[in-house]
Amino acid sequence: MLTDQTTRRQVLRSRVHRAHEELDTLIGALETSRDYRRYLRGMAAFRLAAESATDAAFFPSWLKGWRPVSTRVALEKDLATLKLAPLFMSAIAPPDTESALLGMLYTLEGSALGARLIAKRAALLGFTEAHGASHLAVQTGTPGNWRAFLDLLEDAPVFEAEEAGRAASSLFGFAYNAMILVDRAGDEVHG
Ligand code: HEM
Repeated sequence: MLTDQTTRRQVLRSRVHRAHEELDTLIGALETSRDYRRYLRGMAAFRLAAESATDAAFFPSWLKGWRPVSTRVALEKDLATLKLAPLFMSAIAPPDTESALLGMLYTLEGSALGARLIAKRAALLGFTEAHGASHLAVQTGTPGNWRAFLDLLEDAPVFEAEEAGRAASSLFGFAYNAMILVDRAGDEVHG
């Protein structure tokens, strides 16, 4: 039940909970180098499309100049380092309302929390900032950006829970589809 004490973050977290678990299961425990390469290829396909969508969005003044962390350049570098061919998914439409923008930003920026765990697993496999995991360093390098977003989310003058929740979950769906795309493409390399 929603109460006045329920934060918008809690609303979004419970809305995406199941999709997050499904994605987690699909990605798996990242126990081998092959697992990490698969993860990287999927995340690159997903984030390049998702970041293009938010880049194209109108950011209202109440976001006070805040912007999500951009991982595009680092992802392209990681793919090149590991000689992995990029995969491209269909374009993701930019958010059509301010609530949808908040939902998309929640999913994109919140992924930095899980990235801390993934960075540890990747490091055990030999993937570091200098070798194939620079995007994880970028994602985890500015924790203050996530905290600043949470404050802006709670204070936003506009928040339609349904629209924000739908946009947040829909991005999880795109991330899931990106992993499926990688599995269908197989072990293609370039270079
Ligand atoms: C195997 C891959 C992943 C793992 C193991 C993972 C793990 C986690 C963990 C442990 C947290 C909570 C961290 C904490 O409370 O400090 C978290 C939060 C979160 N993750 Fe993931 N994650 C993964 C992939 C992703 C992806 C690809 C996305 C985006 C599409 C994502 C979006 C989020 C979001 C939005 C939160 C914040 C939830 C909140 O409000 O607390 N995660 N993740």
